[in-house]
Amino acid sequence: MAPASTVGRGPLVLRRWRDTDVDELRRVVVSAQPSLRPWMPWSLGTYDRTAAADFLAGTQASWERGKAFSYAITVDGAVVGACGLANNGVPNTLEIGYWLHPSRTGRGYATEATAALVGVAFTLSRVNAVQIWHDAANTASEGVPRRLGFTEVARRTPPREMLTSGEVGVDVVWELRR
Ligand SMILES: CC(C)(COP(=O)(O)OP(=O)(O)OC[C@H]1O[C@@H](n2cnc3c(N)ncnc32)[C@H](O)[C@@H]1OP(=O)(O)O)[C@@H](O)C(=O)NCCC(=O)NCCS
Repeated sequence: MAPASTVGRGPLVLRRWRDTDVDELRRVVVSAQPSLRPWMPWSLGTYDRTAAADFLAGTQASWERGKAFSYAITVDGAVVGACGLANNGVPNTLEIGYWLHPSRTGRGYATEATAALVGVAFTLSRVNAVQIWHDAANTASEGVPRRLGFTEVARRTPPREMLTSGEVGVDVVWELRR
């Protein structure tokens, strides 16, 4: 079964990205970049219209291949961040990722979006667990799996991805089983 393209009844709704999101995506990322750069390597460079279009094309291709399912986090129809499910190489497992525009943090949106993605993941056959990976210094990210009852299952160093400025280089892995 394919994952739902739209999740939630509002005001917070997750919806599959569309090509027409290019300008809104670019604008939201650019103004969020100062708070994304300490944690997310993809956000380090210049985020122009081509970068946004490339992301949208990549998410469509990954969705079609069943490799990753990326959603816009919207509130009252406006894009406030992004989240998604992705194969991370662990059998029967999908990994959840998320970011919010800094003007939209502190309201539970990432937690609500993640709870919704857990529900989506477990509609898919063969998915028995979801994981969240974050750097040990990223306490805001840590709050999400903690609030939702995930269990910390591993701490890994060196980290999987290149180190960004906020990070200490220890990946914390959380898991929730079906
Ligand atoms: C990680 C990130 C999405 C977390 O955002 P966040 O706003 O802390 O998380 P939520 O949206 O779930 O909100 C939780 C906060 O809202 C509060 N809150 C208010 N209403 C809430 C509700 N209904 N449900 C849950 N929390 C609620 C919580 O108490 C918490 O505040 P606290 O941190 O002061 O305790 C955000 O910090 C971010 O985008 N960081 C940069 C990118 C990044 O690091 N991404 C993750 C990489 S692993």
